[in-house]
Amino acid sequence: MDSILKVENLSKHFIIKTSTFSEKEIIHAVKNVTFELKNGESIGLIGESGSGKSTMANLLLKLLEPSSGKIHLFGQDITYISESEMRKHRRDIQIIFQYTNAVLDPKMTVSELLLEPLRIHKIVEKSEMDSEVDRLLTLVGLKTSEKNKFPNQLSGGQNQRVIIARAIATRAKIIVCDEPVSALDVSVQGQILNLLSKLKDELKLSYIFISHDLKVVAHMCDQIAVMYKGEFVEFGKTHDVLYHSEHDYTKKLLEAIL
Ligand SMILES: Nc1ncnc2c1ncn2[C@@H]1O[C@H](COP(=O)(O)OP(=O)(O)OP(=O)(O)O)[C@@H](O)[C@H]1O
Ligand SMILES: [Mg+2]
Repeated sequence: MDSILKVENLSKHFIIKTSTFSEKEIIHAVKNVTFELKNGESIGLIGESGSGKSTMANLLLKLLEPSSGKIHLFGQDITYISESEMRKHRRDIQIIFQYTNAVLDPKMTVSELLLEPLRIHKIVEKSEMDSEVDRLLTLVGLKTSEKNKFPNQLSGGQNQRVIIARAIATRAKIIVCDEPVSALDVSVQGQILNLLSKLKDELKLSYIFISHDLKVVAHMCDQIAVMYKGEFVEFGKTHDVLYHSEHDYTKKLLEAIL
């Protein structure tokens, strides 16, 4: 199987001022992380709040510059490429954030929200745009009649489906999901997870799937990485991490769900 994303010794630190004097503190948000994602596989990232999961996600999308280390996307070193170069690669790697009102522009209709990535990345011809919007809506389980609505006329779950449709619109093969269901009502969470599972199979997607919930990650992913204070303290096949964990923090997580 081919490696589609390769991360080597990746680190990110933030320097923050701790007082009005010039005292500074260094936060090692991601520390020396190495992993490889193969075509069609998914990796789950778990860890307590502040362990570096979202920083990791933002580094992969180059929404943050790494302090050191390397990122290869489909064999190409993207670590230090410019923002304009990276724009081309954003077609291949997309991110789904936790749903909040801020994620979708409230002034755009569902149709406009889906046309945006299609236009930016020139995915289909102009004449095929409308039918592509309908295809995407159907793929994420929305009725095509919803396309003239605005985000505030849809439920949280429906808006999260729109966010997912925008991510798959570019035909991305890698989708980084940062807590994609944690802001949703429990009754809707399962439906969105089922949708993500279905899309993974249908579109042969690979996920980097971030969650606090080990059960969710175990269900969605072939491999699990446990982050603790910026490091991958455990990384392996889902079964091995669940049944042969070595790190105390993983054992604690497991105790909580068993
Ligand atoms: N822009 C920033 N400037 C300074 N510190 C930051 C910045 N972004 C993140 N951090 C710090 O880096 C560490 C990791 O944060 P991160 O958001 O990656 O954690 P997380 O695992 O996603 O947490 P959560 O589960 O709460 O979402 C935290 O200590 C956080 O305060
Ligand atoms: Mg986070």
